[in-house]
Amino acid sequence: MRNGNQTAAVKNFDLWIRNDFKQLNTQLEEIYFAQSDRSDVNCQTSVTKPLTNELTEAGRTYIAALLKEGNTDSGFDAGFDLLGNVGLYMAACRRHDITEPSRETKSPLIEASALAMQIGASLGVTPRFSTSHLTTHNSAINGLYKSFTSLEDEILFLDYNTRGILAYMRTADALLKILPMGISHPLTGDMLHVAKQGLQDVIKYNDILFNELNVERFFHCVRPYYKPYRVGQNEYRGANAGDFAGINVIDLLLGVCQGDDPYYSQILVDKFLFMLPEEQATLRDCMRRESLLDSMLSVTPEQISSPWFKENGALFLEVLELHGYAASQHHNQLVERFIAQMAKNESQQAYEKVTASGPPLPVLLRSLEKLKDLRCATERDDIPSRYAEIQLLKARIA
Ligand code: HEM
Repeated sequence: MRNGNQTAAVKNFDLWIRNDFKQLNTQLEEIYFAQSDRSDVNCQTSVTKPLTNELTEAGRTYIAALLKEGNTDSGFDAGFDLLGNVGLYMAACRRHDITEPSRETKSPLIEASALAMQIGASLGVTPRFSTSHLTTHNSAINGLYKSFTSLEDEILFLDYNTRGILAYMRTADALLKILPMGISHPLTGDMLHVAKQGLQDVIKYNDILFNELNVERFFHCVRPYYKPYRVGQNEYRGANAGDFAGINVIDLLLGVCQGDDPYYSQILVDKFLFMLPEEQATLRDCMRRESLLDSMLSVTPEQISSPWFKENGALFLEVLELHGYAASQHHNQLVERFIAQMAKNESQQAYEKVTASGPPLPVLLRSLEKLKDLRCATERDDIPSRYAEIQLLKARIA
């Protein structure tokens, strides 16, 4: 369907994104990477200017043709794909400092902003590129999917981000299937096994990223494309691998995070429009459900001694454990190695702009640590950790 209803203007822009655009970004990355200060991005030098001019102007021309065509009714998939392409272009302009939100009150990319806002508003998503554009909704042509550059570390990062997201989604789907069956159903154990397998896969992929991704390349050549940028007047936070519903579905259904916790619900509120509409609907529905932890804790005393409770309860605890382990891996290994440690070497000005979501790094790290501690059910009395309830469940199952 996607390719079938693409107009010539859509096809031409897509081809450009997949070819010349990628090549221009890659050339620019090699220039910055060869500098003694790899964070010193200047789009106006005699070497960079011809490349950044070509990038800006070619993108503008393709987008002006699309606006003129009035590409408004081509179905969700085609619209979402086009929004992704406009978003990749705008994110690259931000990366090369062609635009810079603190310097401007509205995006100088007028045509791109107009198209992005038109599509975003009509589809019910944020008018910028989001993670799914590069991961789960990134179609490959002849074996190659879209990326900013052809650097092998970007491809490694995207491959394993996508694998991690898909594995979290498998876990979330399995947990969702338990809801209509109930925790005592003879086949609920099967679903808990699938949930475990998904999280074990996440852990395996996190390990591969930790061991194989080049820290310098990631920090200097991949991460900068995920910065916030303006669309029209508004600045939108950067995309991150967490912008899919599955991770929060797992948090809520396991019961380690709760929709009535203002810290956690703020995360959800800020995230909704970065997700596909069907994911938004799943997550909304989940926010109203009783968690599996609460269901396990509300069984009658007679049920506690039944075999199903011991078996499903033990499996449930294993799933909890794995979810916590994956979260601590993300925080203590990935965020620590690829961002926190690298940011320490940056100038004050670059340090302040390191995060994708916008807040200063120490603030972001404290917030991510809270999330990690909720997922690990760490004993903390300053956050609504489920430590005590999980200890109680463990005691009942023993
Ligand atoms: C090099 C690898 C990675 C690094 C350095 C990294 C770093 C980060 C950072 C810094 C954030 C906060 C967003 C911001 O910058 O404002 C974040 C968010 C997030 N990342 Fe990653 N990440 C990596 C890979 C992954 C992978 C493979 C997954 C698995 C799907 C993942 C899942 C998430 C989630 C779910 C969030 C949202 C916050 C949360 O719910 O925990 N990340 N990541």
